[in-house]
Amino acid sequence: MTTKLAASFVALAMLASVARAQPAVSLLIDNGYPSTGSLNIASVLSQVSTKKGQAFHFGSTYDTYDANQSWFTSVFTTFYRHVVSENGCKWDATEPSQGVSDLTECLACQKFATTNGATFRGHNTFWHSQTPTWLPGSFTAAQITGTIIPQHVQAEVQGMGTSVTSWDVVNEVVGDGVSNGMTPLQCVQNKGDWPTVTADGSGKPLIGDLSFIYAAFNTAFQYAGNSTRLAINEYNTGGQDAKTACIISLVQNIQQNTNVPANRLAVGFQSHLTASTGGFYTKSALATTFSTLAALGIESMITELDVSLNSNSQANLRYQAAIWGDYLDACLYASNCNEFINWDPRDDLSWRGASAAATLFDASGNPKLAAYEVAARLQNYAAGNAEPCATASGTGVCTITGTGGGTTSSSGTGSGSTTTVKSTTSSTATGGSTGCVSAEWGQCGGMGWTGCTACASGTTCKVSNAYYSQCLP
Ligand code: XIL
Repeated sequence: MTTKLAASFVALAMLASVARAQPAVSLLIDNGYPSTGSLNIASVLSQVSTKKGQAFHFGSTYDTYDANQSWFTSVFTTFYRHVVSENGCKWDATEPSQGVSDLTECLACQKFATTNGATFRGHNTFWHSQTPTWLPGSFTAAQITGTIIPQHVQAEVQGMGTSVTSWDVVNEVVGDGVSNGMTPLQCVQNKGDWPTVTADGSGKPLIGDLSFIYAAFNTAFQYAGNSTRLAINEYNTGGQDAKTACIISLVQNIQQNTNVPANRLAVGFQSHLTASTGGFYTKSALATTFSTLAALGIESMITELDVSLNSNSQANLRYQAAIWGDYLDACLYASNCNEFINWDPRDDLSWRGASAAATLFDASGNPKLAAYEVAARLQNYAAGNAEPCATASGTGVCTITGTGGGTTSSSGTGSGSTTTVKSTTSSTATGGSTGCVSAEWGQCGGMGWTGCTACASGTTCKVSNAYYSQCLP
């Protein structure tokens, strides 16, 4: 399988900002939920589905050529329960010669899912990247929309069968330089990739309308299962910004100009994030976008979440866990979000690079703090508890309370809520530097902590667990 650097990788830098110190964060795993030991969330995921009233699909990427196949079998039985082929369903893999469909790897990934009792989603039927060598070529606009796209989409969607939960029908069709008020066509033309322009690098216009997108959706709708969601999938989207506005107007435009009804459409938010201020959307920004789509009857999905770190410090791993927790809560507590994909199942396999430590499992395949926090959030939701506050905002804004295990409340809803911590333990804090003072609710110790260990007057540093001590009244 050839691997090409996706255009989106370069664009990640747009959402990422200069690395800054991460804030001290509050987590459910500080409050009684496990942060060590083996993780098996299969039954919790079933409980989440029951609570949601429909299947909640939580998973990751897989391909048969990956090393560590026995680890994959184990983790996809106990943790990730939904499978996306990382590369095996892309155009270069599935139509290597024009008109010759080859679903070998895509079907093998689906079989891996079925064998392990997991579900399967399709990624993707159209993308300007990872295309076969014969495409893009010197085809006319009429050939592309009339034959090439319908033929490819039909072969793939029909060939994979009706149980596919959702398909990324088009991937990354909106530009990075868009501005508010652009029409859907302007949003797509701003991308400047084939087939809106020719593939020869000259930038010469080719398809001057959205017909190639409509052709893909109409064909997918014709051959997909009758509950399969059909998505536009995009990076650097999720908040109240021009690119997200483009995505929302494009999906409505697709609904108006194709046979696909709203209740079969979805927006996939890739979510390749960076653990730094501005490197991710806040939970409330995501919630607002998800509810805008819910009002239109359109599904929201987190399709490719990873959170890169600039160092593997304990504080960064906690920040990563907080961001992951917020994205998961945004999806869990939304009425229209039922698929949540973690892109690459472990750090050493991540397309962001192993040193970015951007996934839920470390390079040895062991769960990281973010994996435990994910398990805790799922458990918290399944137990019917209130939505935790926005942990990635830091303890100045959000401090979770509760004794964990899914038995108690955690906090208020949305961002900005602060709640009282019920601390049950008190002992000497570890780590950190002296000569400075942490504010009330701030961190004052824990493994890897390099900040202040003294607490503001009227508060005492109490150990929550090995990783976290906090200044409490
Ligand atoms: C990435 C894969 O993870 C890599 O293995 C491959 O080399 C390039 O593509 N957006 C997408 C995914 O939609 O298909 C990309 O996956 C990551 C960015």
